[in-house]
Amino acid sequence: MLIGTATSAYQVEGNNKWADWWYFERKGDLPYRSGKSCDQYHFYEKDIKIMKSLGFNAYRFSIEFSRIYPSKGKLNREAIEHYRKLVDLLRKNEIEPIVTLWHYTLPKWFYDLGGFERAENTAYFESYVEKIINAGIDAKYFLTMNEPVNYATQGYLMGEYPPFKRSPLAFRRVLVNLIDVNDRTYSMLKKHGYTVSFTNAMYGFKYPKIAYPFYKVTDYTLNWWFLKRAKFDFVGINYYRAINPVSFRQHGKGEMNWTIYPQGLYYLISKAYSLFKKPVMITENGFASSDDRERSKFITSHFKYIEEAMRKGIPVIGYLYWSFIDNFEWTYGYTKHFGLVSFDKKTMERHVRRSAFTLKRIADKYRGI
Ligand code: BGC
Repeated sequence: MLIGTATSAYQVEGNNKWADWWYFERKGDLPYRSGKSCDQYHFYEKDIKIMKSLGFNAYRFSIEFSRIYPSKGKLNREAIEHYRKLVDLLRKNEIEPIVTLWHYTLPKWFYDLGGFERAENTAYFESYVEKIINAGIDAKYFLTMNEPVNYATQGYLMGEYPPFKRSPLAFRRVLVNLIDVNDRTYSMLKKHGYTVSFTNAMYGFKYPKIAYPFYKVTDYTLNWWFLKRAKFDFVGINYYRAINPVSFRQHGKGEMNWTIYPQGLYYLISKAYSLFKKPVMITENGFASSDDRERSKFITSHFKYIEEAMRKGIPVIGYLYWSFIDNFEWTYGYTKHFGLVSFDKKTMERHVRRSAFTLKRIADKYRGI
């Protein structure tokens, strides 16, 4: 089983100056600046060493589209080389690289062309993917995109992320285009024998009798709509919380003030398996807190439900905790602490939290299984 952690380029690399987010951070349309983050672009060797020492055998990270193509048609070969080195080092340490091709941020020039709202822009994304494939990156698992429904909701319905729209029509357009982007990318990668999926932001539900229809529709729209339409080899579940209010919570709500509901993960895994009959990978699961004991409790209580699903015969092929290290939490900046590792903003020195050893114990137990 794959046990490890997840991150995304924009959140950990630092200095992604060619991205749309960077532009809006400078312009003042976003509340925080990402800056150097934990500078994983330069500190990846150190981070991989820590992963290795913790016994993790998987690392999910993303390639930053805007680094590869900082301007239209201009390929940055150095950046490709960087990701190749990163993957090679992971392999050398027997850590399976799980590569996300797009995690929220876009090159500013691509954004200016209308991003994924315009179907014809898909071609630019395809040539980016082609470059990555041709670079011969030594990975087995690729994720075409991260949380398409959440991306479209935040950017086109709630107006929280670029392009800050509140338009149901644009929201729909983006989702329809993203199904196409996924399917084209999926086919490209399949020709080369990769195992391919995308991640889904999924929510736990406990349908109360009252408001049952509301929960049913919300569950379907957020959790299953996209999955029922797009191509994938395994179901990628990003799970953090339940949609329902507080009544059944057994945990603190952490820095995000989220309703923590470990049983919800069991519901999602079993429903996903009964619908699609494909393996499941927990591509994200995490808790932001300054209380590290709460984080350990979070990991243990969620993993219990993964074990339960596996006992029932469901193939759960991986568990990736979000996140390896504290990082830039989008509209919350650095005020939320999801990491198993923290870092010193000045020296970039890493400090491993005790909760990392909770995941280590799980990794030790499942290694080779
Ligand atoms: C996203 C991450 C984010 C995390 C915590 C996930 O939905 O993929 O980028 O940091 O949630 O909010």
